Amino acid sequence: MGTRGARPAASMTSLKDAIAATRERLAAHGQEHLLRFVGELDESRARAVLAQCDGLPLDLLAREMPTILGTAQADSTHARIEPVDVIPAHPEGWIEFAAAGEALLRAGKVACFTVAGGQGTRLGWDAPKGTFPASPVTERSLFQIFAEGILGLRKRYGAALDWIVMTSPQNDAPTREFFGAHGSWGLAPGTVRFIVQGTMPALDRRGKILLSDRGELATNPDGHGGSIRALAESGELARLRKQGVEHLSYFQVDNPLVHPAEPLFLGLHATHPSSGGQMSSRSVARRSASEKVGVFCQRAGRVGIIEYSDMPPELAAAVLDDGRLLHSAGNIAVHALSIGFIERLTHGGFALPFHVARKRVPCLDADGVLQVPAEPNGLKLETFIFDALPLADRPIVVDSCRDDWYAPIKNADGGDSPTTSKAAQVARAARWLGACGVSVPRDQDGAVDAVIEIDPALALSVDDLRAAFASGRADAPQSLGQGSRTLLSGH
Ligand code: UD1
Repeated sequence: MGTRGARPAASMTSLKDAIAATRERLAAHGQEHLLRFVGELDESRARAVLAQCDGLPLDLLAREMPTILGTAQADSTHARIEPVDVIPAHPEGWIEFAAAGEALLRAGKVACFTVAGGQGTRLGWDAPKGTFPASPVTERSLFQIFAEGILGLRKRYGAALDWIVMTSPQNDAPTREFFGAHGSWGLAPGTVRFIVQGTMPALDRRGKILLSDRGELATNPDGHGGSIRALAESGELARLRKQGVEHLSYFQVDNPLVHPAEPLFLGLHATHPSSGGQMSSRSVARRSASEKVGVFCQRAGRVGIIEYSDMPPELAAAVLDDGRLLHSAGNIAVHALSIGFIERLTHGGFALPFHVARKRVPCLDADGVLQVPAEPNGLKLETFIFDALPLADRPIVVDSCRDDWYAPIKNADGGDSPTTSKAAQVARAARWLGACGVSVPRDQDGAVDAVIEIDPALALSVDDLRAAFASGRADAPQSLGQGSRTLLSGH
């Protein structure tokens, strides 16, 4: 909701007139119940709830309501879902694209963009997810891992490479405090900037907006698709344009293996003949039909992603003659977006489609008594950044080696947990060291028998590590001891 449609003049008019005007607007959309308790509030709380109501996207909600409530005509486009063409990642053969990406970085035409506004409920971490201790030896937080990777890239390319972090109203303050407390890990002030995403009202099953308190609407963050509007409304988009930034390197807060701004991917995005240079994505081969990753596909001839929860099971499990998944490309939430494309998306009242989740939403009943439901009672509305893909000119999807790129922390235990992610970080470090001629201890099953961490400021790829050893920026250990713990960082 944020500042959308807010009417600053309301604070100048008398409270009574302001209430009447807002009530009339709400009534036109069947939402006047939101002011049921306004007469009981003091003036400042009354004005606060009026401002919240005036910021509601009522026209948009009315337009989308049949879809939100599931009463719209069923979508019959599933029949036309086809696999997407994926560009294989062959870095050796693609020196020219890596060089093009390096040139973009050197020229300061890239900024990093992390979406970190999620609530992270599955992990059960009572703080912003980016503060979670994620690395195997030093327990660096996710934010620190990205910060130091970016620091390394800035040094390597002598580049500005600003970092924009999107938070939500719920986690903005603790996120900023965490960066402040760690001096942003050496990133100069002003080169890390925060933008706060907007919120959407929670609805009951009939489409009525819920109240969480007498003077407050029930809301939730508007999804990472809200980043488009947040970039524009915060002024960040204009600032990046003025600075000469042309592309954003987008990634999620939960994946410590991610490369914050990989030259090859950026070069492919910006200069590959198949790419329109507006929005590009990296994928990994899906592990199984049930892996919880979005699936790249073509719908009615346009590249897009179907979220795992929306993918018809028969399509998720469809296989080719050789047993491989037909729709093999999984979403790791790594994208490159041009500033021009984001600008285009923010013009002309455009909006990404809503995704609706049924959730338990504590809310007031008609008598003003707070009800904490045991079952889902409400509808949560979010938009997804990847719904911009079908709107882009010739988006490309670039395959990635899972072991190098993707080991997210989503759950407290089981798959995609801190344990599996740390094991993947160690395995990757061991592979890189092995490729540089360092002997790494392994047990009888071939699993790495040591805990290893490579400072992200030193190396974000095996080539970086090789170069660091060759230049003497770091000393290559001869071998690592069985069961040892090693942190490899530069001088
Ligand atoms: C997400 C993708 C899925 C992909 C997987 C890869 C969605 C809907 N699904 O699944 O296709 O395969 O990651 O790991 O994105 N966030 C915000 N604001 C919000 C909501 C989320 O910034 O309002 C951020 C979170 O902080 C997080 C990211 O978006 O960084 C992903 O959110 P989450 O809802 O956890 O998505 P997943 O189910 O993990």
